[in-house]
Amino acid sequence: MRAEGLDHQVYCRSRPVNTETTTPWDKTAVAALTPLQASDKRYKILEAHIKKYQGRQDALIEVLHKAQELFGFLEDSLLLFVGSRLKLPPSRVYGVATFYHYFKLKPQGAHTCVVCLGTACYVRGSDRVLAAIEQSAGIKSGETTEDKQLSLMTARCIGACSIAPAVVYDGVIHPKQDPESALAQLKGWLPHGN
Ligand code: FES
Repeated sequence: MRAEGLDHQVYCRSRPVNTETTTPWDKTAVAALTPLQASDKRYKILEAHIKKYQGRQDALIEVLHKAQELFGFLEDSLLLFVGSRLKLPPSRVYGVATFYHYFKLKPQGAHTCVVCLGTACYVRGSDRVLAAIEQSAGIKSGETTEDKQLSLMTARCIGACSIAPAVVYDGVIHPKQDPESALAQLKGWLPHGN
C-alpha cells in the first residue's frame, strides 16, 4: 500500500516495513496526548482528517501525509497520536513512517521554523515571509542550516487562519507574521548573525 502520488522508487527506504504488531501501547504516553491535542489546533484538524477516513487503518499513509503537512515533520508524540487514533501499534506506525523517505521523523536543526503556506496565510503574505527567511538563512524549505541551528519547513493550514499569516517557531504558533517579525524571531538562530 502506498500513498497517492508517492513514487515508490524515490520515496521508499531500502529496509522493509516493520509490520510487527507486538509492541504494546504505552498508556501513559497516549494519555499525555490529550492536553496537547486540546491546546494545539493542528491536532484537531488531524483528528477531523482521520474521521474523514472513518479511522480506517489502511488510511495510515494518508494520515501521516496530513500530519507532516500540518506539523512539518513527524515527531514521536505525533506518531503515537496517529497510532492511537487508528488503533495501530506503534511498531506499525513507526515502520511505515521510517520506510518512506518522504516522511521526516525529526528536523536536523536545534530549532524549527514552520511557515504556513495554506490559502489564508498565503494570501496574507506568508510566501514573502518564507522568501525572507530562506534568503537570510541561506537555505530552502525542507533544509537545515550548515551549523545545524535551524530547520525550515512549510505546512498547509495549521488551523490558525484567523491569525494569518502564522508561523510556528519551535512548536509555538505565532500570529500575523511578516518578514520583519519573522527575522526578529529567528535572531540568534540564523547563520552569521543575519
Ligand atoms: S492557512 Fe495558515 S493557518 Fe490556515
